[in-house]
Amino acid sequence: MTFQLSEEQLAVQQAARDFAQTELLPGVIERDTTQKFPIELQKKMGTLGFMGMMVDPKYNGGGMDTISYVVAMEEISKVDASASVMMSVNNSLVCWGLEKFGNEDQKERYLKRLATGEVIGAFCLSEPEAGSDATSQRTTAEDKGDYYLLNGTKNWITNGSSASVYLVMCQTDASKKHKGINCLIVERGQPGFVVGKKEDKMGIRGSDTHSLMFTDVKVDKKNRIGEDGFGFSFAMTTLNGGRIGIASQALGISSGAYELALAYAKERKAFGHKLSEHQAIQFKLAEMATKINAARLLVWQAASLKDQKKDFVKAAAMAKLYASQIAQEVTTEAVQIHGGYGYVKEFHVERLMRDAKITQIYEGTSEIQKMVISRELMK
Ligand code: CAA
Repeated sequence: MTFQLSEEQLAVQQAARDFAQTELLPGVIERDTTQKFPIELQKKMGTLGFMGMMVDPKYNGGGMDTISYVVAMEEISKVDASASVMMSVNNSLVCWGLEKFGNEDQKERYLKRLATGEVIGAFCLSEPEAGSDATSQRTTAEDKGDYYLLNGTKNWITNGSSASVYLVMCQTDASKKHKGINCLIVERGQPGFVVGKKEDKMGIRGSDTHSLMFTDVKVDKKNRIGEDGFGFSFAMTTLNGGRIGIASQALGISSGAYELALAYAKERKAFGHKLSEHQAIQFKLAEMATKINAARLLVWQAASLKDQKKDFVKAAAMAKLYASQIAQEVTTEAVQIHGGYGYVKEFHVERLMRDAKITQIYEGTSEIQKMVISRELMK
C-alpha cells in the first residue's frame, strides 16, 4: 500500500489540471449564469480523451484504470462541476454500462462513438414518481415481437438535450416487479421522443438537465441491454460504479474551494495580520484539509477495489456519502473565510457551494447510500 500515483496517473492528473485551468476556468462563471455549455468545449473534452477514459482502446477508449479517472474527475471538478457531471455520466454510467453489459453490435454502434466524445450519452432512470424508489418505474415498454413500444416520462436527466444516446429504464412486465424492467438504448430524434423542459437549477447550471417524453417510440429489440428483465440489475450495478465518479466530483469541489480559501487566507489582511496568521482561520483550514484527505482515501479505495475487480459496492457508497457530506462543510467554510467576497460570483466559492449540494442527491441520495451501506453490513 503506497498511496502513490503512478507516472501514468500523475500525467493524467496534470493533463486534467491543465485543461481545467486553461480551458474551463475562463468561461465558468458565464456558463453558470447563462446555463449553456458550448458544444466546442464538450467536443474538446472528448478529443483530449476525458469522455471514455476507462473504455478498452479497441472501442476507441483510453484504456485507463479507475484511479486515473477519479484523479481527472477531481481536477476538472475543482474548476467546473458542470463539465465533470457530463464527464461522469458519460464515462461511468453510459460507457461503463455498455462496455460491461452491452453486446458486440451495441458496442460497435454506440460505445465507439461515446468513448471518443463524438456523441455523449444519458442515463435515464428517474421519473416524476420514481426517484429514490427506483423499482417503481412507470415508463412502459410493450413487447411487440421484434420491437418495444416505449411510453412514459423521465425526469432530471443529465445531458438531457446534449446527448445522442439514451439508456432508458422501463417496465415491460409489471407483474414481475423489478425483474420486469429492461434497459433500452434510444437514439435522439427517434419519432415520438421529445426532450422536455430544461431545469433551472441551484448548481451545476452549466450542465443541461431535462425531462424526456416518450410516446409510442419504437425501439428495436436489438437495442435491449442484456436478457429480458435485466434492466434493474443493469441500473443498480452501473450506479455502483457511477457513485465513485460522483464521489470524486464532490472531492474535487471540496479541494477546489479549499485551495481558493487557502490562497485567499495567505493574501488578505485583517487586524494587521494575514488571515492565515489567525488561529481561527488556521483551524478551519486544518479541518478542511483533513476532511478532504479522508474523502480522497475513500474515493481511491473504492476506485482501487473496482480496478482489482473486487466488491466495491460498500466502498463506493461510503465514498459518495462522505465526500458529498464534506463538500457541504468545506465549501461553506471556504465562503466564510472569504467573507463578503465569498458571497459574490467572481470569487468562485459561492458557485462551488451551490454545486456541492447536488452530490448529496444524484446517483442515490445520502439516505440511499446509508441504505446500501447498512444492507452490505448486514449481509
Ligand atoms: N447493486 C446491485 N444490485 C442491487 C443494489 C446494488 N447496490 N441494490 C439493490 N440491488 C438489487 C437487489 O439485489 C435486488 O435484486 P434481486 O431481487 O435480483 O436480488 C433488486 O436490486 C431490488 O432490490 P431491493 O429489493 O433491495 O429493492 P428496494 O426497492 O428495497 O431498494 C434501492 C432498491 C437500493 C433503494 C434502489 O431503488 C436505489 O438504488 N435507488 C436509488 C436510485 C438512484 O440512485 N437514482 C439515481 C438516478 S441516476 C442519476 O442521478 C444519474 C444522473 O443523471 C447524474
